[in-house]
Amino acid sequence: MTVIAFCGASGGPGVTATALSALLTWPLPNGRRVVLAECDPDGGSVAAGYLESRVFGDRGLHHLQIADRRGHLEEVFWQQLLNLSEPEADANRLLLPGLISPAQAVGLHQTWPRLSQLFSDLEQREPGYDLLVDLGRSGAAGAASALARSADLTLVVVRGTLRAAHAAKPRVDALRAALQMHGRDSSRIGLVVIGEGQFRPRDIAEELQLPVFAELPFDEKTARVLTHGGDGGRGFANTPLMRKAAEMSRTLQALAVQEQLRLHAPAEQQRPTTLLRRLTTKGATHDTAR
Ligand SMILES: Nc1ncnc2c1ncn2[C@@H]1O[C@H](COP(=O)(O)OP(=O)(O)OP(=O)(O)O)[C@@H](O)[C@H]1O
Ligand SMILES: [Mg+2]
Repeated sequence: MTVIAFCGASGGPGVTATALSALLTWPLPNGRRVVLAECDPDGGSVAAGYLESRVFGDRGLHHLQIADRRGHLEEVFWQQLLNLSEPEADANRLLLPGLISPAQAVGLHQTWPRLSQLFSDLEQREPGYDLLVDLGRSGAAGAASALARSADLTLVVVRGTLRAAHAAKPRVDALRAALQMHGRDSSRIGLVVIGEGQFRPRDIAEELQLPVFAELPFDEKTARVLTHGGDGGRGFANTPLMRKAAEMSRTLQALAVQEQLRLHAPAEQQRPTTLLRRLTTKGATHDTAR
C-alpha cells in the first residue's frame, strides 16, 4: 500500500482535478483498491463538482472527528466512502468526501495524525489499498501536515506561470521544513506541472528546487468535467489530460513503491532509487534526492 499526498498553492492550480484524475486512472492489479481522501482543510469539492451532488446521504470527513473521539475511527471511515468505479466494475475506486465547511477543520486538529496512521495501517487490509490524499493549498503546512509527513510521496501541483511558481515557493519551503523537522528527507517531494504558461517544467523545477514527477497538459474541457461534472463522453479516457493522467498514475505508483523499498532497506542502501534519480536529473538541475 502506498500513500500519495497532493497539495498546491493559492490560485487553484488544479490539485483536486489532478488527484481525481489519478483516482480514475490508478493501476489496480490483482483486485487492489484505491481511495481518494479529500483532506483539504478548506473543504472538499468532488461531491458538488464532479459528482454534481448526485450522491445521496451525508457522508464525509466531517464524521471522523466524533468517531475518532469515540474510538471508532476506522469503522466510521469505511462507512463514509463513495464508490466512483465504472458501473460494471467492482467497488475499487473510492472517495472520502471532504469537509463541507472550513470551520470543521478546527475540530479535526487531533484527528489528522490518527487519520494518517490509519492510512498507513490500511496496508494490512485485504485486498490491498493505495491512498491518494488531497491536502489542498494549506493542508501540507498546517495541522493536516501529519498526512504529508507520513506519505510515501508528496506532489506539489503547479502551473508553468510566474504567478504559480511565486505562489508555490513559500509552500514548498514550508513543506520541506516540516518534513525535515520530523526527520523525513525531502526527496519524496516532487512536482506535477500543468502545461499552462511560459515556463517549461524544467524551469519550474529549477525555480522550486524539486524534481518533476509528472507533467499534465492544459486541457480545459476535460478538467472542467473533473471539477464541475457533466458527461465527458465515450472518449473521456482518451482525452489528452486523462491519457497523461494514466501515465502519471503509473509513474507515481512505481515511485511510491520504490520509496517504500528504500525506507525499509538497511541504512547504507537508503540512497535515491533509480527512477527517482532519473526523474531528478531530468527535471531539476540539482540533486534533491538525498
Ligand atoms: N490540467 C488542467 N488543464 C486545464 N484546466 C485545469 C487543469 N486542472 C485543473 N484545471 C482547472 O483549474 C481550476 C481549478 O481546479 P481545481 O479545483 O482542481 O484546483 P485546486 O488547486 O484544487 O483549487 P482549490 O485550492 O480551490 O481547491 C478548475 O477550473 C479546473 O477545471
Ligand atoms: Mg481543490
